[in-house]
Amino acid sequence: MPKAKISALGCYVPPRLLTNFDLEKMVDTSNEWILERTGIVERHIAAPDVATSDMAVEAARVALAQRGIEASDLDALLVCTVTPDMYFPSTACLVQHRLGAKKIWGFDLIAACSSFLYGMGVGAHLVMAGTHKKVLVIGADTMSRIIDYTDRSTCILFGDGAGAMLIEPSEDDNYGLIDFLYEIDGSGGDALKMPAGGSRMPPSHETVDRKLHYVHQDGQAVFKYAVRKMYEACRELLARNNVTGKDLGCLICHQANRRIIQATADRLGMPPEKVIINIDRYGNTTSATLPLATRDALTQGRLKKGDLVVYAAVGAGFTAGASLWRWAY
Ligand code: UT7
Repeated sequence: MPKAKISALGCYVPPRLLTNFDLEKMVDTSNEWILERTGIVERHIAAPDVATSDMAVEAARVALAQRGIEASDLDALLVCTVTPDMYFPSTACLVQHRLGAKKIWGFDLIAACSSFLYGMGVGAHLVMAGTHKKVLVIGADTMSRIIDYTDRSTCILFGDGAGAMLIEPSEDDNYGLIDFLYEIDGSGGDALKMPAGGSRMPPSHETVDRKLHYVHQDGQAVFKYAVRKMYEACRELLARNNVTGKDLGCLICHQANRRIIQATADRLGMPPEKVIINIDRYGNTTSATLPLATRDALTQGRLKKGDLVVYAAVGAGFTAGASLWRWAY
C-alpha cells in the first residue's frame, strides 16, 4: 500500500477584521474576558457577497500554484465544511466547476470542528488505496453566517477562513500518514448544534424568530469533553506508535480555545515552542483551523521536513480524533 503525504498547502482568510474591541461595542463583553477565557484577539469576517466556495477556491488556487499543477491534474476534491453555500449541489461541485477541474469526483464532508481532520484521513486513504494520485482536501467555513451577533457566549468565538492540502502518494515510505484514531459520540449532540434548517426542523418564520438557525452551545459541556478527549486521542495514538510528546516536532490542534490546546500540550509534555497556537489572530474557523495553523508552523520554521506532527481535533457531534504524520516537505 503506498503511503500518502501532504505535498502542498494553501490558505485564504478574508481581509476584514473583527476585533475584541469591535465586539465590546456589539455585546456585553470585554477584551479582557475574551482574551483570558479563549485567547482570541481578532478574527477575519467574510464580506456579505463572499460564500464558503469563494474562500475554498482561493485556498485551492494557492495550493495548486505551490505544487505547480493545474486543477485538471486532480483526481478528487473534498470540501470539509459546516457552512456549505447551500445543501445541494455540494460545495465540492461548485469549487470543481470554478477551478475548471475536469473528470474528477468529490463531495462535502461534515464533522463540525473535526471536519478537516477527518478529510485529511479520507483523502489519504483514497491515495493509499492506489486509486487516486492527487486529492485536494479543502476546509472552509463562513461561520459568521450562522452566528448570532447578539449572543455573547458564541459570537466572540468564531471567524471565517479556508485552507487546502494536496495529498499524494509518497515515493519515500518514511513520509506521510502513519496512523490515525477517530471517534464519534452522538450522546453529546445537544451540547453544540444548529437546531433548525434541516429535516428535523425545517426553516420557518418561527425558527428564524427563535434564532434556531444559529449556533447554540453549552460551552462548559463542550469544554469538558474537549479537554479530556483531545488529550486521550493524542495519548492513545502516540502510545500505540511508541512515540512520546518529546519526539514530536509539532502539535497542531483545532483552535477552539487556547486553554484546551494548552491543557492537551501540558499533559503530553510538549514544550510551548512545539505547540502551534494562532487562535489569537483567527478565532475558531471550524474546518480551516488545521491548515491555517500548519501554514503558520511552516512560515515560522517550526514544522520541517522529517518532523513528526500530530493533528488533533474535537467538535460538535461529538466528533474527535488525532492523526500522526511525518512531514514530507
Ligand atoms: O470548536 C467547537 C468546539 N467548541 C469549543 O471547544 C468551545 C468550548 N467551550 C469554551 O471554549 C468555553 O466554555 C467558552 C469560551 C465558550 C466559555 O468560557 P467559560 O469559562 O466556560 O465561561 P462560562 O460559559 O462558564 O461563563 C462564565 C461567565 C458567565 O457569567 P456568570 O453566570 O458567571 O455570571 C457567562 O454569562 O461568563 C459569562 N460570559 C461572558 N462574559 C463576558 C459568557 N460569555 C461572555 C462574554 N463576555 N463573551
